[in-house]
This record gives sequence, structure tokens and C-alpha cells, in this order.
Amino acid sequence: MTKGYIISFEGPDGAGKTTVLNKILPILQEKLAQPILTTREPGGVVISERIRDVILDINHTEMDAKTELLLYMAARRQHWIERVLPAVEAGQVVIMDRFIDSSVAYQGAGRGLDKSEISWLNAYATDHHKPDLTLYFDVPSELGLARIEANADREVNRLDLEKLDMHQRVRQGYLELAKDESERIMTVDASQDLETVVDATLGHILDHIGK
Ligand code: TMP
Repeated sequence: MTKGYIISFEGPDGAGKTTVLNKILPILQEKLAQPILTTREPGGVVISERIRDVILDINHTEMDAKTELLLYMAARRQHWIERVLPAVEAGQVVIMDRFIDSSVAYQGAGRGLDKSEISWLNAYATDHHKPDLTLYFDVPSELGLARIEANADREVNRLDLEKLDMHQRVRQGYLELAKDESERIMTVDASQDLETVVDATLGHILDHIGK
């Protein structure tokens, strides 16, 4: 690879990353020569969307943490090979709403699974590729949860129903990742107003893509 460019958006639930993504898209497309593909994990292609339904079904309360991890990885692999890789090879800018870091933060820090095993599985699923740039939208867990509750249109999934301490562990996991991989992961303070968050996000992307 890589002729294109992979950007991932990451953050705890309620950080507002999907809202920011929708806001920046038309502005970014005007400034960039390459076409932009936006997609999401888990999902993005038929098989992975079906796996998403299994993972996030609120009735699947008996799901084991390793089963959950492996399902995310299966969804990741299919999405990578069918959608992301061909787009990058065709020179597109791919913006992914969640990617490899979600598994380290949620299944690693959140569920307590071994982070080095998760990193190995991530590498296996993506043939050792990582995003060129990751925007981490940081928000205190109380604020993130309050936003989820206030947003009546949002789908409520099985992971949303987790308690505050799980959300706090996920945030800590992200903060550690951002510290360990500070070259790749840029932190945006997502507790600020939307306009400020959008400006900061665009700034990081244009800064990196211009290089
Ligand atoms: P979404 O609400 O951002 O679409 O993501 C669905 C949920 O899946 C969200 O609670 C985060 C979670 N998730 C993981 O736990 N591990 C993963 O690897 C991914 C991609 C998502």
C-alpha cells in the first residue's frame, strides 16, 4: 500500500464523534482532491452489519467477553478486506467511525481482556495495518452518558447499557493509548461546543494530510 489515507474517529459513547464526522465531511471534501469514503465499525458491509446486529442486540446479555471480541474482529476483517483496503488502494481518503483502538479500549480496558492479545488479533484482522491518523474524542464519562440519555434518536445498544465504571475504564484505556501512540493519535476535547470541536478536528486532519 498505501496510496490513500486512513483516518479513524475514536472515543467513548456520547463523545459526539459521529456528529462531528457528518459536519466536517462537506468542508473536507471541498478542500481535498481525493474522494472521501466514510464507513463505520462494526459494520460498513453486509456481513459485518449482520455481525453488528448480533453483537449489539440488547437481548444477548449472556455474551462472553472473548466471544464479543472475536465477533468485533470478524466484522473488522470482512470490512477491511471488502471495503477499506480497496478504497485505500484506489487512492481514497477513508474515514472510519471506530477501528482497532475501540477493541483495545472497550474489550481490553473495559472488559479486562489482555491488551497484547487484542493487538495481535487487530494485526491479524488488518494484515498489520493501522490508521495513518486517529482523532480521539475525549469526554468525561458522566457527560458522555448524559448525552446518550438526552439523545432520543440514537439507537440504544447492549454496550450503552453498561454502568458508569465500564465507561470510565474505556476512557482510561483511550487516554493510555493516546499517550502511548502520540504520533498517530490526536486528542480532541469533545466536551467543548460543537463548533470548536469541528474546527479542531479539521485542523488536525488538514495538518496531517497536507504533509
Ligand atoms: P457505535 O455506537 O459507535 O456505532 O459503536 C457500537 C458500540 O460498539 C460502541 O459501544 C463501541 C463498541 N465497540 C467495541 O466495544 N469494540 C470494537 O472493536 C468496536 C469497533 C466497537
